[in-house]
Amino acid sequence: MHHFHYVGQDLHCESVDLAAVAKLYGTPTYVYSAATIADNTTRLSESLKGLDVQICFAMKSNSNLALLKHFANLGAAFDLVSGGEIRRAIAAGSDVRKSVFAGVGKTEAEMKLALESGIFAFHVESEPELARINHVAGKMGVKAPIAIRVNPDVDAHTHHKITTGKSENKFGIPLKYALAAYEAATKFKNVAIKGVQMHIGSQLTDVSPFVEAVTKVIPLVEELKANFGISYFSIGGGIGIVYRDALASGQPGWWQAQPADKRPITPEAYGAALLPLLKPLGLKILLEPGRFLVGNAGVLLARVEYLKRGHGRNFLILDTAMNDLVRPAMYDSYHEIVPLHRDTTRRALTADIVGPICESGDCFAKDRQLQEVGEGEYLAFMSAGAYGFAMASRYNSRPLAAEVLVKGSNFELVNARESFESMIANERIPAFLK
Ligand code: LLP
Repeated sequence: MHHFHYVGQDLHCESVDLAAVAKLYGTPTYVYSAATIADNTTRLSESLKGLDVQICFAMKSNSNLALLKHFANLGAAFDLVSGGEIRRAIAAGSDVRKSVFAGVGKTEAEMKLALESGIFAFHVESEPELARINHVAGKMGVKAPIAIRVNPDVDAHTHHKITTGKSENKFGIPLKYALAAYEAATKFKNVAIKGVQMHIGSQLTDVSPFVEAVTKVIPLVEELKANFGISYFSIGGGIGIVYRDALASGQPGWWQAQPADKRPITPEAYGAALLPLLKPLGLKILLEPGRFLVGNAGVLLARVEYLKRGHGRNFLILDTAMNDLVRPAMYDSYHEIVPLHRDTTRRALTADIVGPICESGDCFAKDRQLQEVGEGEYLAFMSAGAYGFAMASRYNSRPLAAEVLVKGSNFELVNARESFESMIANERIPAFLK
């Protein structure tokens, strides 16, 4: 389900040799495949064929403007979580009237911006938020479209830091109190009830928690349709991707070759499991996928600086670090790491693959096996398109990486590497220190 493959011995993204990209723009650099994004988007919408489906891409997973424009061209809208994201949706020239505004801590200014932009709906996370939306909409003389996020208390069987649908998580209103929250909403003059929302977690590798959660929420959905005339049900995002065999999973036949009980989630399996539950509702269905659409559509290119041998361990030290891709340090997550130039005649190397940042957590992989590589050679981190650049920081005063978009044999820089000047542009030395 992606367009990264070796042509001869050289890793390509679609028809572009990734070593050429690394040489031209330097490293670390994120590279995205437009064809992979388009394929994933189409496959997911087709998996729920026959339903009125709106994909709202979860912009938090990757908010590069070029990708947002690509999504807008594909008919997708956005799941937005901040004023900054609303402004990005506008800057990409997308139609905010199809997008939704989520998040537990919406400020008054963000609510105002969302209303001015004609947001499709607010996904409300609490009663005090509802009161604030009512207040802001009242001041503007408009009615705010809303859906309440319900928390179905379902275990998504994913990493605890990205589980959201359990009762102990901060998200949504517990299912048993949801109806009362809708009734309370009817008392607010400046809100209009439009739908209902849920999202149980991220990187789900099995459809059963989705089925369990949707099944649990459906009686409420039916009641809301009958009593409040809601028009849509958003079932959130969360579809997982392949990390461990990321490269191989792009090859024809790989999915079919996986044993049925080990096969990762496919959009077809997702659709087949959910369509029979959703169809009878007769509602518009919103999907909020992030990782599924962009995760395997992106790689992070890095250069080897040193191979530090001996002392009981080998360390492969790269020019990329936890500031560029924080997922391994933050969630112990696995990213496959492959050489841009493959050479099967070389010896194998077992090493810890690390970045230059001054802390031990700056480690991408322990005891990883790969072909022997040396200074100046390039590697690619697979499945880095989601929550990669989006979570990058400048820790150790490292500038933000560059981003490149590939389409067929075309490629273009879609975010220049940050300069030192722009890194310090907002900083000031106060007069009392001069
Ligand atoms: N909808 C809501 C309300 C969400 O909170 C999220 C993600 C999504 C949709 C999209 O979920 P996805 O389809 O991408 O799984 N930084 C973590 C993931 C955090 C997910 C936060 N919410 C990681 O790198 O794994």
